[in-house]
Amino acid sequence: MDGQLTYGMVGGALDSMIGESHRNAILLDGRAKIVSGCFSRNFKKTLLTGQKWKIKRDRLYRDYQQMVIEESRRKPKIDFVVIATPNISHYEIAKAFLEKGINVACEKPLTTTLQEAEHLKKIANQLDLLVCVTYSYTAFPVIPIARKIIRSGEIGSIRMVNAQYLQGWLAKPLENENKQSNWRLDPSQSGLSNTTADIGSHVENMISYLIEKDIQSLCAKLDTFVKPRKLEDNSIVMVNFKDGARGIYCMSQIAMGEKNNFNFSIYGSKGSLKWSYEHANTLNIIFEDSYKLIKKEDKILDGTNEGFKNLYSLFITDLINKKNGKKITNSNAHFQSINSGVRGMKFIEKCLESNKKGTWVKFN
Ligand SMILES: NC(=O)c1ccc[n+]([C@@H]2O[C@H](COP(=O)([O-])OP(=O)(O)OC[C@H]3O[C@@H](n4cnc5c(N)ncnc54)[C@H](O)[C@@H]3O)[C@@H](O)[C@H]2O)c1
Repeated sequence: MDGQLTYGMVGGALDSMIGESHRNAILLDGRAKIVSGCFSRNFKKTLLTGQKWKIKRDRLYRDYQQMVIEESRRKPKIDFVVIATPNISHYEIAKAFLEKGINVACEKPLTTTLQEAEHLKKIANQLDLLVCVTYSYTAFPVIPIARKIIRSGEIGSIRMVNAQYLQGWLAKPLENENKQSNWRLDPSQSGLSNTTADIGSHVENMISYLIEKDIQSLCAKLDTFVKPRKLEDNSIVMVNFKDGARGIYCMSQIAMGEKNNFNFSIYGSKGSLKWSYEHANTLNIIFEDSYKLIKKEDKILDGTNEGFKNLYSLFITDLINKKNGKKITNSNAHFQSINSGVRGMKFIEKCLESNKKGTWVKFN
């Protein structure tokens, strides 16, 4: 397959949780081809992943620093790099590629501090580069429809949001048994937050995207139920929006029996909207005495990939349009840009601040 664009990837080796979702999503879109990678710090894993994806041996790298040097010398350069490493390295890797003029698609949370996220935004905007943050859930087909319904006023003015992201995989101590839990619960790999950063970032992104309201203040209670963990495994956040709407976000990774239960209900003055990842292509719209169901065809059996595929399609379309001379920036992009990534980091930092102080904190 010869795509119009080429890309490289850092992290996301075959044994990672999310690497294949990225590569498969881009393959399904069909307009970009993977040509280089440093998929792991273990070069054998990079070679194995590269072999599977038919990447030439001389474009597989032992470390991302070498990849940046070699790939940025090539003419033409890769159009973008995908970063799917643990959180702590997002900033340094994204910065290195941006500084060499390469667009970035980076996993959430964008960085581990707001300051780093703002710095990346500054570099990207100064160099006129696009940064996509791979908040995949907002790209499920019914989600933009839900946003349009809210914008149209069909459910009235938004009064209350109840959003939950519940998992049970950390209900027991998994440390040292599972590499994904190892780094997520280690502040030197994950940053200062586990649950709020890992899944709360998706909740914040989803609700901000849908209701388009600024947060005025929030009050967060982060708990660590399984001891002696250093980071939270449960996070409950109350949110005040600027126009008086209220929200409650409940994120848990110790919710025994839950797999990946991400759902929201948005209540307006005329009706409400309900969505759940378990039926990701269905949207329920409920009025006082009537009910509407919007159902999109499940195009891909693994639901996660459908969000990733749609997100990458938006990103790739914007990259192609930009290459063809259209003025596409991180502010008018159709994908989840660095602006969402920065706001997400602010949300995480404000939750940490509120939890530490034990009070409501202002968002701005
Ligand atoms: N958008 C989503 O829905 C979603 C879902 C899962 C994970 N994530 C995010 O994806 C990222 C990775 O999470 P995961 O669960 O796949 O982790 P993982 O531990 O399964 O995989 C991380 C991969 O990065 C590689 N790696 C680590 N440091 C590296 C470096 N310096 N250079 C090259 N490779 C390196 C590891 O070898 C591994 O292959 C995290 O930021 C996580 O928050 C997002």
